[in-house]
Amino acid sequence: MKSTIDSTVEFVKEKLKGAEAGHDWFHIERVWKLARKIAETEACNKEVVELSALLHDIADPKFHNGDETIAPKIAREFLEKRNVSDETIERVLFIIENISFKNRDSAPQNPPVELMIVQDADRIDAIGAIGIARTFNFGGFKNNLMYDPQSKPDLNMSKEQYKKSNGTTINHFYEKLLLLKDLMNTESGKKLAEERHNYMLGFLDQFYKEWNVD
Ligand code: ADP
Ligand code: NI
Repeated sequence: MKSTIDSTVEFVKEKLKGAEAGHDWFHIERVWKLARKIAETEACNKEVVELSALLHDIADPKFHNGDETIAPKIAREFLEKRNVSDETIERVLFIIENISFKNRDSAPQNPPVELMIVQDADRIDAIGAIGIARTFNFGGFKNNLMYDPQSKPDLNMSKEQYKKSNGTTINHFYEKLLLLKDLMNTESGKKLAEERHNYMLGFLDQFYKEWNVD
């Protein structure tokens, strides 16, 4: 008989056919592998980690008119038909519902370690070379400007400046990507984030240098 993990892989691959390249099966596969790697260094329930990593972007609200209830519904329906305990289902759903960076202000006070692991894995895939590629892919998908030289964003910009540069792909580095390093939950997540963070800083320096042809 096929394992629950194998049938989840098959299900997710099928569901994400045609997804935007930054949120497709390959993103899930990288997050799954990263989560397994981080899980080796933490005492945790590995089945919960793997199932949550595999199902975390099954219906991203960004591509479903902001509806945050679809993904947990699809995941529940899928898991209930499988050989998965009710307790595991509840734990996986809790992670899927709370993983998002966007909702970090309402994050649970004492998150389970499995949430911390999958969240770190998802955030690590948002930074570094892959993070840069995903971000420009998403910006292109939305037909956003890469950069607006009239309003160069930085980490300490005023609300006014922020509004002006909002919507450019470069701005996404300042509203999200550069903040992720300090939001890592686990020690191994922190280590993995460090190199990728520095790579993005180097990228931004080079980007501005090349933009300003003189
Ligand atoms: P979360 O689900 O953790 O809230 P998102 O799904 O919004 O995070 O973001 C995942 C990735 O999608 C980002 O790391 C980035 O690569 C890309 N992305 C999201 N919003 C934007 C944006 N406005 N501009 C460019 N890339 C974006
Ligand atoms: Ni994700």
